[in-house]
Amino acid sequence: MDTLDTNAALVAPKNPLRAGIADDKTGDPCAVVIFGAAGDLTKRKLMPALYNLAVSRALPSGSAIIGVSRRESSHDDFRRDMKEAITRFSRRKIDQAVWSDFERGVSYVPGTFEDPTTYQKLRLELERLDKERGTRENRLFYLAVPPSDFAVIVQHLKDAGLVSDPRNVGGPWTRVVFEKPFGHDLKSALELNGAVGKVFDEKQVFRIDHYLGKETVQNLLVFRFANSLFEPLWSREHVDHVQITVAEEIGVEGRGKFYEQTGVTRDIVENHAMQLLCLTAMEPPISLAADAVRDEKVKVLKSLRPMERSQVADNVIRGQYGRGFVRADEVPAYREEPDVSPQSRVETYTAMRVFVDNWRWGGVPFYVRAGKRLARRVTEISVQFRKVPHTLFRAPDGGITPNVLSLRIQPDEGIALRFTTKEPGQQTVLRDVAMDFRYGSAFGSNTPEAYERLLLDAMRGEATLFTRRDEVEEQWAFIDHVFDAWASEGNPPPPIYAAGSWGPEQADDLLARDGRRWRKP
Ligand code: BG6
Repeated sequence: MDTLDTNAALVAPKNPLRAGIADDKTGDPCAVVIFGAAGDLTKRKLMPALYNLAVSRALPSGSAIIGVSRRESSHDDFRRDMKEAITRFSRRKIDQAVWSDFERGVSYVPGTFEDPTTYQKLRLELERLDKERGTRENRLFYLAVPPSDFAVIVQHLKDAGLVSDPRNVGGPWTRVVFEKPFGHDLKSALELNGAVGKVFDEKQVFRIDHYLGKETVQNLLVFRFANSLFEPLWSREHVDHVQITVAEEIGVEGRGKFYEQTGVTRDIVENHAMQLLCLTAMEPPISLAADAVRDEKVKVLKSLRPMERSQVADNVIRGQYGRGFVRADEVPAYREEPDVSPQSRVETYTAMRVFVDNWRWGGVPFYVRAGKRLARRVTEISVQFRKVPHTLFRAPDGGITPNVLSLRIQPDEGIALRFTTKEPGQQTVLRDVAMDFRYGSAFGSNTPEAYERLLLDAMRGEATLFTRRDEVEEQWAFIDHVFDAWASEGNPPPPIYAAGSWGPEQADDLLARDGRRWRKP
């Protein structure tokens, strides 16, 4: 009996927002090999995503999952740990029938990434799975490890003969997924791309930015290019400025060591926030093919006005959270977090004013901010339109509020358009109202997680939602200017903001200088 058939009720309804983004073709059965299998990402995101794909019957039947990490563990212990993780983190509860089938394909290979015997053991395990489960030598290597481990793993995969020839179209395939961050700066990203390029063809490489797997982020393309209403307004002629906010309530969550080397600019701005900017600013691509979409995003990145050292202070604001209250709970300062230096100068908040110097956006500022321990978790893009050219009405505060279109990426996913109306009554009193679309009420709330979509796309060889080599290099090239300037000033300590606030006052001044202010999300 096909155990999955008994779970028809668990199959997710087809999400209309996915239509047109990619074909729903089923991939080939393959072995998904996760390096860093003992880590948090595997437990919180990757295994729950793979399990949910199995529930939705999107995981090609016969597929297998191999965890690789230095921790000694047996197949059975690994399966038990993964079941626990899925029970805790999956958006759908464990169903025993689905799980029994799923766990038969899960196995574990212990070993360090530098040791060639790890790859010999892996090879034997892969060969076993090819025979027993029919994975047909198709391999998806997922590197859920720090970027410092990427090059060594990639080279060993090659030396162990685990990388197929990309020219062999229709034969067994090998693909590799890199978790973010892809490098630490432009120099290291170039080196990594060089090392990866010696082993893999770019078509085999999938650099993850999980924001691109979010339904609401994919919907940016649909919203912009499947509606005729907004695109004609989407330019300097009508848009006054754009605000992109990636705000989190959480702090560094036990990742002090990682944050001390990363900071929010590398962790969130360089990738998630810049991808949101690209999707907001890009020209319509000629198709949804991976390179057509990525070509347009790269053009946006190349149009970003580079900041001279002397301009960074005026355009980029840093901050670090101090003690404070988040949802009435007292929380420690960043410098009091485990594995963080009490003198740390690492930024947990960054706001910047960015210009896209091209025909469409010339002169329109994009204000981008990202931070930890802010007042509320919210990711949104808000497009503020120009003021009306002439005021006919005596509005209460002396002016009419400009229209704002806000695309709420999360939580409370939706799209709202603010406009001005007349309040009912004998006098002409103006009032702002909003037209509000909510995904939850329109489509139900059991939306697939970003990692489900991205893992599935990688298995299908569909690269539209992954970052291309030149794209990641352009992202770093822009961000490097900021780090250069901070380093040249001797990296002064960032201003402290209270946890639970909206960041340092200096970030408000950044907009106030332009006669604008941050939207209260
Ligand atoms: C990750 C960052 O890429 O994104 C984390 O490393 C951050 O620091 C996370 O918390 C946010 O993701 P999401 O999907 O919760 O918005």
